Amino acid sequence: MTAAQLTARRAGPLKGVVRAPGDKSISHRALILGALANGVTEIEGLLEGDDVRRTAAAMAAFGAGVERQGEGKWRVEGKGGFAEPADVIDCGNAGTGVRLIMGATAGFDLAATFTGDASLRSRPMNRVLKPLGQMGASWTARSNGRLPLTLKGGALQHIAYRLPEPSAQVKSAVLLAGLHAAGGAEVIEPEATRDHTERMLRGFGAVVHVTDEADGRRIVLPPGQALRGTRIHVPGDPSSAAFPLVAALVTPGSEVTVEGMLMNPLRIGLIETLREMGADLTVANLRDEGGEAVADVTARHSELHGVEVPPERAPSMIDEYPILAVAAAFAAGKTTMRGIGEMRVKESDRIALMAAGLAACGIGVEEEPEALSVVGAKRGNHLVAGGAGVVTHGDHRIAMSHLILGLAAEAPVSVDEPGMIATSFPGFVAMMRGLGAEIGEEQPAAA
Ligand code: S3P
Repeated sequence: MTAAQLTARRAGPLKGVVRAPGDKSISHRALILGALANGVTEIEGLLEGDDVRRTAAAMAAFGAGVERQGEGKWRVEGKGGFAEPADVIDCGNAGTGVRLIMGATAGFDLAATFTGDASLRSRPMNRVLKPLGQMGASWTARSNGRLPLTLKGGALQHIAYRLPEPSAQVKSAVLLAGLHAAGGAEVIEPEATRDHTERMLRGFGAVVHVTDEADGRRIVLPPGQALRGTRIHVPGDPSSAAFPLVAALVTPGSEVTVEGMLMNPLRIGLIETLREMGADLTVANLRDEGGEAVADVTARHSELHGVEVPPERAPSMIDEYPILAVAAAFAAGKTTMRGIGEMRVKESDRIALMAAGLAACGIGVEEEPEALSVVGAKRGNHLVAGGAGVVTHGDHRIAMSHLILGLAAEAPVSVDEPGMIATSFPGFVAMMRGLGAEIGEEQPAAA
């Protein structure tokens, strides 16, 4: 039987108060640092999507005690290092999982073989292998450093690594390797990327020096540090919260609040951009939870207009361009997103798939190697047409973005491979239905 597809259609306004699932980036890091530490780490609010579950299983395979104690409640007993796993580590769809775990693995005198699903096996690992190799790790991989690959670590040397591309995953892999490198590690990032690894390392008792200098941000991890288990409360993921928030902005009469959303300045470029587009977004109860800022964010239906999104904003919203493109489809005028070449090496080529999906839904798009422009459909009473079956290449954010588009388009929008949504947001459909959305499962029409 062909896999079911999901279809979103126009219904009433969206109303309600929801809580976004745990942040994916922070969830991976909590499990990995918990496993590297000595002693017990208690985690609350862990994202229980497939990506993070793979990391939990990997940490058990590397010798940590990993136990699920309730919804989002996990206990990790770290042994102060990794032991050689007895089998292949399958990270599924998770680029963050595999890249960070490879970084952590490199510090130990052992060999580990990594693989993933078809998407992950096609993604570039050289960006991580290059600095790890300079530190002294070795590997055997498929051509172009693709998975499956076997990494051999141990006896690492200090590195001062300037990131060639803005990537928090590469930065984090180097820092995690640096925990067990003679001389520690130093990373220079010309553009600041999400800093959850640096913050969390401190939470585990490590010293991390961060300075902003003329050539970028310098992160120094001095040598000889031992991590101690801690308690972590994982805040709501702004990359997931983006879907109900944009759904409210584009669906007439809507008002939706997402509680407990992470407000780390390096993660909320989308909020800034949507406000520039005229979005009615309010941020309330800004507070600190375990070293990260969180708040309750409310979105109301808004008349949006197109904007130019500056390239330097890309690292702070790299995963949100697909849903921004949907918001742009409902705006008046053109929105241009530049400096987004990194989108092409995510779970799919997201520039190509958003351009194709929006075009199939009747939206004018212009695709360039490192840019995407969307011509908003809002002219008088003209609406976004919709009425397409969208190919997602198994990319969760491409699927969710087009379903949100379908909620406010003239004709229903379907997406294939909807099961992949569970990699980052297992409760997406239930949450959206709870707000009043019409999203249903269907079998595709026979060819
Ligand atoms: C992530 C970093 C980003 C982001 C990914 C999560 C992280 O990837 O797209 O979803 O947790 O460090 P890059 O490091 O490739 O930019």
